[in-house]
Amino acid sequence: MKNQLDKNNIPQHIAVIMDGNGRWAQKKGAMRIFGHRNAMTAVRESIEGAAELGVKFITLYAFSTENWSRPKEEIEALMELLVQAIKDEVPTMMKNNIRLSTIGDVDSLPDKCRQHLEWSKNETKNNTGLTVVLALSYSGRWEITEAVKEIVKKVGQGSLDIDHIDPRLIGEHLNTSGMPDPELLIRTSGELRISNFMLWQLAYTELYFTEVLWPDFRKEHLHEAILAFQKRERRFGKTGTQIKHKC
Ligand code: FPP
Repeated sequence: MKNQLDKNNIPQHIAVIMDGNGRWAQKKGAMRIFGHRNAMTAVRESIEGAAELGVKFITLYAFSTENWSRPKEEIEALMELLVQAIKDEVPTMMKNNIRLSTIGDVDSLPDKCRQHLEWSKNETKNNTGLTVVLALSYSGRWEITEAVKEIVKKVGQGSLDIDHIDPRLIGEHLNTSGMPDPELLIRTSGELRISNFMLWQLAYTELYFTEVLWPDFRKEHLHEAILAFQKRERRFGKTGTQIKHKC
């Protein structure tokens, strides 16, 4: 599968909704957290697979704003898993020139989590290969709301003219400022929704849905998704003829 990929048409930015951990565990008669623990191989494989192909950004939806309403024990277990993953993975990230970044309301995370995140972001900040972006306590509507507040504040203070508000300026006030929009979104587990993820940034993104549950996701599934992406014609509102003749 990897050999079939066009190396000159690899998405620069892949976003992933890692879904199906709970169902994976329930199918095995285990607790939901067992699914989250077994999700780490999939996380590692997708990061490794993306790095091997020269992808510049991979954004993983690890904890949504809505996930705060899950049972307290599940939230605690997820936060613990995050801390452990950071501790375990930073040396590998250093070895592979991978930078860690986050989007979302990181200040709302437990202290221990925040401290580990700050430390790992700082450790990896000079790495120039793949950037792994963890979306934590994140939702698209939250992010857009924060951007609106910031912009309105600047207008109120007189440091921004209302006529200068355009899509570029709004993009610069989002958590993803400076990053390209995702070209490919992968969602696992057969659910066909965006679930409040990167609502602004997904405007022209190719959507790829797979029945595979996240803990079973491997490099070959990433390759399949990229191959499907490469077979699509991206038109950005133009006609097929215009795209063919590059006008
Ligand atoms: C969705 O499955 C998954 C989550 C809400 C959490 C994702 C977290 C991880 C993969 C572990 C930590 C990740 C990193 C990057 C350190 P679900 O629980 O909604 O599954 P279900 O839809 O089957 O119930």
